[in-house]
Amino acid sequence: GTYETLLVERRGRVGLITLNRPKVLNALNAALAAELTAVLAAFDRDAALGCTVITGSEKAFAAGADITEMAGKTYPQARIEDFIAVWDGFARLRKPVIAAVGGFALGGGCELAMMCDLIIAADGARFGQPEIRLGIVPGIGGTQRLVRAIGKAKAMEMVLTGRMMDAAEAERAGLVARVVPAADLLAEAMRTAEAIAAMPLPAVLAAKDCVDRAYELTLAEGIRYERQAFYALFASADQKEGMAAFLEKRPPAFRHG
Ligand code: HXC
Repeated sequence: GTYETLLVERRGRVGLITLNRPKVLNALNAALAAELTAVLAAFDRDAALGCTVITGSEKAFAAGADITEMAGKTYPQARIEDFIAVWDGFARLRKPVIAAVGGFALGGGCELAMMCDLIIAADGARFGQPEIRLGIVPGIGGTQRLVRAIGKAKAMEMVLTGRMMDAAEAERAGLVARVVPAADLLAEAMRTAEAIAAMPLPAVLAAKDCVDRAYELTLAEGIRYERQAFYALFASADQKEGMAAFLEKRPPAFRHG
């Protein structure tokens, strides 16, 4: 279909979503949140796809929640609308999502990138949580995910001062998987997504699920969880194929099942 706030395409087994509100640096309004989460859910259900890339423009991945839309909200309105809840669908996605971040990833834009499974950044990317300057705090998980990603000291500094990190600092701090030249950002993100989408899907789903558990479980529980997932993969055709192909010194032909 066509979208008001997104460009959406499929390239082989990879779904590509480009945030497309260029006049406001891809500010995340309600329409964008609804369209983005709906497309992500549809891609997640689509057996022909194995991975999704979300990107923006070279100037901005997303400059945060749409301040024009938020400015006049009252407390009861915010509470009753619960306008952040639209993002909860992210936690139900089972296939990997890559954020390809060029330019500004601020506020909700930084939080959106952090909700993705991994971030690949252009050398010109800037990450920040400037909400404090607006009299609010991050609202889509930023205070929690940033601490886990980069540690308390840097997270606290960013959330209290609104200071932006450049791509090099973000990579050193562990926020991003890789920094690439801006001109190569989409190609590199697509290459990574294609590599993931070519992997046997049962193992991909298990890998993402297990890594995510590390945020929520104790080490002992997480290790038990991983072991069950590990054993369960011996019920997949792709495990038989992957190991047979290795032993027969030929490339595997995965069925994603
Ligand atoms: C609405 C925005 C916007 C935003 C930019 N624009 N960010 N509109 N919401 N978050 C608009 C500007 O008003 C401007 O519109 C146009 O986009 C271009 O932006 P400029 O400011 O002119 O560009 P520049 O001078 O290059 O500065 C870029 C910038 C700055 C540093 C990124 O735009 C900025 O500080 N933006 C706000 C960042 C921010 O505070 N984000 C957190 C939002 S709160 P016009 O009409 O003038 O051309 C948040 C909470 C999330 O994210 C959790 C709850 C859901």
